[in-house]
Amino acid sequence: MKPQNVCVIGCGYVGLVTGACLAGIGHNVICVDNDISKVSALKKGRIPIYEPGLDQLIHTNVKKKRLSFAGSIAEGMKNAEVIFIAVGTPPTDDGSADLTFIESVARDIAANLKKYVVVAEKSTVPVETGDNVEKTINRYNKNNVAFDMVSNPEFLREGTAMDDFLHPDRIVIGAKSKKAEKIMMGLYAPLKAKFLVTDVKSAELIKHASNSFLAVKISFINSVGRVCEQVGADATRVAEGMGLDPRIGRSFLHSGIGFGGFCLPKDLEAFYYISRKVGYDFQLLRGAKEVNEDQRAYFVKKIEDALWILKGKTIALLGIAFKPNTDDIRFAPALDIVTRLQAKGARVKAYDPVAMPRAKSVVKGVTFCKNAYDAVNGADCLALVTEWPEFKTLNMKKMKSSMSHALIVDGRNMFDPDAIRALGFEYHGMGKAR
Ligand code: UGA
Repeated sequence: MKPQNVCVIGCGYVGLVTGACLAGIGHNVICVDNDISKVSALKKGRIPIYEPGLDQLIHTNVKKKRLSFAGSIAEGMKNAEVIFIAVGTPPTDDGSADLTFIESVARDIAANLKKYVVVAEKSTVPVETGDNVEKTINRYNKNNVAFDMVSNPEFLREGTAMDDFLHPDRIVIGAKSKKAEKIMMGLYAPLKAKFLVTDVKSAELIKHASNSFLAVKISFINSVGRVCEQVGADATRVAEGMGLDPRIGRSFLHSGIGFGGFCLPKDLEAFYYISRKVGYDFQLLRGAKEVNEDQRAYFVKKIEDALWILKGKTIALLGIAFKPNTDDIRFAPALDIVTRLQAKGARVKAYDPVAMPRAKSVVKGVTFCKNAYDAVNGADCLALVTEWPEFKTLNMKKMKSSMSHALIVDGRNMFDPDAIRALGFEYHGMGKAR
């Protein structure tokens, strides 16, 4: 493999993982961000996000001089053969993606274009963004320097992002020219992955359609769970049976409080917005969103049903992050659940292994505890929100002894109901009759 010079614009989650992993497989990478404090922290070896193994990978590659950081696109682009755009595309009030950062980066790329490069979109963007970036670069590209626009969506999951990068199910390359396609395939050659080459718009849609499909799958099993509870069945067993059919598959059929995070909710919303924009009401997506929001309310209702009156009760929330192995709390179900519990007059104590520093600045009126035992001390209910591995090895006898009331409402079906009931707990899972 011939090492390539790569510039990654945006040192957020996607940009840092992409940059570090590309350096890890032998390329020379500069990661750029316009947040100077972030860049200077990175230069000093401080990594702004929690992702297992990422700090080590960054440190190793900085030492090998294959990875560095810069505060300007001009500096990052100097020798670049491939430029990745990995800046944020946050949701706006109407559900559409805010593309102002992408547009501004496109103008900066144009202003610094001196020789042929491949410009690859890595951020999740609405279909046709590639066309708009291409037009923008052409508009501000005074010397008419040639470049190729490519869509190369990421499919990384927080918490397992490096493994996902290094062992991908597929690498999607949406390209117009054979030259760009070849360069992109060369970049990823060490991964020996399955490539799918498409046009740019199809590649863009693959990302939105994939995340939306995963969201629909989760809402589907959560709806099945609601029926299960009424008829005396168990959604986990139903999911097992469904999952044995390879056309369906077992993954993403875990019933619970639903999906959160910065990807699934935002992409579902953005894809729905796009469908409406082109004149199609994608009702399935709207339904998935509604089911997801209702699951959180339903979880709180379960706690309320068990305790009758929530006013004055103490609820111990275990887990704040939107899923285990991340400190990300953006669109985390926990945030909504806390608000609902507080609105009903409950007192909330919370513990999360890594997300508390972030949560403290966002979640108000909550008592943050030093561990799970501290959180349940004096509590009327243990509400399991994130299935962190460390919660699976808790001494439940000890937990029970300090609770005011031995009640567990398990939003992730993490506990074994029989074992937990045998210890004397009242237990309620999701999608389970009892
Ligand atoms: C998601 C996709 O899975 C990645 O493929 C994609 O690259 C990424 O978004 C992105 O667009 O960047 P991520 O947001 O890290 O990854 O999280 P997931 O593992 O997909 O989980 C999302 C949410 O669904 C979590 O809150 C999780 O607890 C929930 N979930 C997941 C369920 O409630 N049930 C399930 O069966 C699976």
